[in-house]
Amino acid sequence: MSGEKIALVTGANKGIGFEIAAGLGGLGWSVGVGARDEGKRELAVGKLRADGVDAFGVPLDVTDDASVEAAARLVEERGGRLDVLVNNAGVTGGMPQEPTTVDLAAVRTAVETNVIGVIRVTNAMLPLLRRSASPRIVNMSSGVGSLARQSEQGAAPDVTGPLSAAYSPSKTFLNAVTVQYAKELRDTNVLINLGCPGFCATDLNGFRGVRTARQGAQIAIRLATLPDGGPTGGFFEDAGVVPW
Ligand SMILES: NC(=O)c1ccc[n+]([C@@H]2O[C@H](COP(=O)([O-])OP(=O)(O)OC[C@H]3O[C@@H](n4cnc5c(N)ncnc54)[C@H](OP(=O)(O)O)[C@@H]3O)[C@@H](O)[C@H]2O)c1
Repeated sequence: MSGEKIALVTGANKGIGFEIAAGLGGLGWSVGVGARDEGKRELAVGKLRADGVDAFGVPLDVTDDASVEAAARLVEERGGRLDVLVNNAGVTGGMPQEPTTVDLAAVRTAVETNVIGVIRVTNAMLPLLRRSASPRIVNMSSGVGSLARQSEQGAAPDVTGPLSAAYSPSKTFLNAVTVQYAKELRDTNVLINLGCPGFCATDLNGFRGVRTARQGAQIAIRLATLPDGGPTGGFFEDAGVVPW
């Protein structure tokens, strides 16, 4: 077992996930770049290594049992344990998503990736995380998963978010599931929290976001590096707590 911290970031080939990997790598950590596409994964690993990051590629499709099991074996062979898991991979499910006309396939895709994928990866990695002295799990959520914000009377559209029967509810579901993990793991040293990156310019939104992916990564890096005794089961953005 090495003394260097080991992290795994899902969906790390681009966008916010890539920047989370770069940020954790900048701390001197060894970072697994979880990505489903071999070409994109190797490109990302190459870029990170060129910047001095101890990055390694982890073939990983969060919707696929065999892929996730193989990823856990690879991380175990690499480090014998895992210190930090960042469940960052996410999809919108496809647009449009007005509730009255939504394609059910969009709802299924969003939930399959953004919720069930997170449960699948977390449960596969937990045995490795439990071997860490200070395990941390960060689930990338969104302010559009906040029911309080979505239903705020008289608030601006950038607060209440778009009409969405797939993506937004999938993040609300993820929030609820994360609270359940925190309850089960409360008497362990595992801290599990939700991060909201803000509206960042990435492929996910056709680069309409107003923040950079690097800015969006900061909250995940903060939650990944929480000290022992830090919060668990919370929902945070750069400015502080996000209301449920
Ligand atoms: N951008 C924002 O404004 C914003 C706001 C709030 C929350 N978020 C959340 O932040 C996270 C990162 O989003 P982003 O904006 O960086 O989006 P992005 O640029 O589209 O990146 C999404 C990443 O997830 C990966 N992914 C999707 N499905 C996957 C699967 N089945 N298995 C493995 N990887 C998969 C993608 O891989 P491929 O390249 O192979 O598709 C990609 O690496 C997401 O959870 C998103 O919901 C983003």
